[in-house]
Amino acid sequence: MSDAFLVVAFLIGYLLGSIPFGLVLTKLAGTQDLRTIGSGNIGATNVLRTGSKGLAAATLIGDMLKGTIAVIIAGYYGGANAAMLAALGAFLGHLFPVWLKFNGGKGVATYIGVLIGLFWPAALIFCLIWLATAFTTRYSSLSALIAAFVTPLFLWWFGHPALASLFVVLTLLLFWKHSENIKRLQSGTEGRIGAK
Ligand code: G3P
Repeated sequence: MSDAFLVVAFLIGYLLGSIPFGLVLTKLAGTQDLRTIGSGNIGATNVLRTGSKGLAAATLIGDMLKGTIAVIIAGYYGGANAAMLAALGAFLGHLFPVWLKFNGGKGVATYIGVLIGLFWPAALIFCLIWLATAFTTRYSSLSALIAAFVTPLFLWWFGHPALASLFVVLTLLLFWKHSENIKRLQSGTEGRIGAK
């Protein structure tokens, strides 16, 4: 596969990843601008703070699937390297969408979505860790941080060093995007799932 397709794969990923489902769906539903509610984030956790479980679920699915679809398309036409570049593109597209002046989301759903496309058992482990942590602490951010910390280790352990390297980068970006959440967790002021 030519190097040109690798660039195309990245761009397909970026364009799909930059669709801000939370913002689009809440706007269509006539909800107040998501960026003025709760944490101000455009992800499913903050959509839940609008009171609509249905919209939150739809946001989660949309933000996940855009990553999965980007990886599957790029992988089908360009192979493993193209799939990984599409994953990077989709994640960066969600974090830094050109349509929102590069102010995007925190990346958790898209992280899971690209993981489903690249190596689904790791996505399953991510979700199980997320659910176990969320069930015990009711912190969405902490659940994502722990699951994302474990993911590169799991990928490496399962014999996927290239994927592990990619997910070290995605995890570092995810942690950076959760800087404010980390500060709130440390000070005990982070909002719990279900709280307004
Ligand atoms: O998916 C993002 C989540 O980890 C934190 O969201 O809105 O509580 O900052 P939020």
